[in-house]
Amino acid sequence: MKQSHAAVTDSHGDVRQAVIAARDALAAAADLDELADIRTTHMGKRSTLAQLQRSLGGLDPEARRELGAAINAARSELAAAEAERRAALEAERDRVVLAREAVDVTLPARIPRRGSLHPVNETTEAIVDAMVGLGYRVFEGPEVETDWHNFTALNSPPDHPAKSLSDTIYVQPLSRETRPTPDGTTGILLRTQTSPGQIRAMSAQEPPLYIVLPGRVYRSDTPDATHLPMFHQIEGLAVDRALSFADLKGTLVELARTILGSATPMKFVPDHFPFTEPSAQLLAYYQGTWMELLGSGMVHPNVLTAGGYDPEQVQGFAWGIGVDRMAMIRHGVTDIRLFVDNDVRFLSSFS
Ligand code: DAH
Repeated sequence: MKQSHAAVTDSHGDVRQAVIAARDALAAAADLDELADIRTTHMGKRSTLAQLQRSLGGLDPEARRELGAAINAARSELAAAEAERRAALEAERDRVVLAREAVDVTLPARIPRRGSLHPVNETTEAIVDAMVGLGYRVFEGPEVETDWHNFTALNSPPDHPAKSLSDTIYVQPLSRETRPTPDGTTGILLRTQTSPGQIRAMSAQEPPLYIVLPGRVYRSDTPDATHLPMFHQIEGLAVDRALSFADLKGTLVELARTILGSATPMKFVPDHFPFTEPSAQLLAYYQGTWMELLGSGMVHPNVLTAGGYDPEQVQGFAWGIGVDRMAMIRHGVTDIRLFVDNDVRFLSSFS
């Protein structure tokens, strides 16, 4: 028996209800999985629309055509709505994935940790800069020196007792064919001071001479708070026609004030070195005691002669600074051994 008109009218209402319910559900779908479920529920084989479609067979032709058309219209409307919602949800999913996987090229780069100048090198540079500002030039001598340059030419004859105080490590010459120094000796050692550079500079250049010689030196010293068996010196040498002890003192006090500031108490006292006459040392008051910073003096005539200069024509003054000790005062370091411990926590505090 064919369905009544009223029943067909109800079916049209059911189609509209199904469309509204499906549209609401599609609009509310939170993600693509939910959308697939909604599609099955509202547009699949068990959906209201599918049931209505199955009921078409029981209708008379005209009602079947009308309801069939209404169902087809509903299906294509929902298909469009579903496609639209799916596109929106896919776009949203892509946006989230892209955002999660994005590389933020605007993030600050990981900057490698930068080192800094070792305080001893910093102090060396400051001293050399100050002297270059006064017209001095840099001259470097070898760390492995001949016994002759290190001692004999500096007015310490081979059997002088003062020599044994600073004797250090003697090494074998690299070649058997050793070149004897002017007095015929062939001894080679790690230099105990930068002073042999004075002889090398004088041998290489005519006066007037204004030079500084920075470098490492080696001593048979036991390490303590103010001594290291390897440390740094800067030698200074001025040779000219009319130099006096006043020039020496003026230069060194000026230099010390530049490097250590005017608050550090300092004193200049007589001393003895084989290669200068008269000689003096400069001390600074630091950590409750007077610490020697440098030795100095008027260059001994024998040293000028060993360098090939005529002591009747020129005079010179010279000094040798202990750079590590200057660096202690300049940077407030309490123990000289910290400079060679290689502890980055100590070193990075100077960056
Ligand atoms: N060479 C000396 C030392 O190492 C320091 C020194 C003293 C250097 C007097 C000089 C000088 O040039 O004139 O203890």
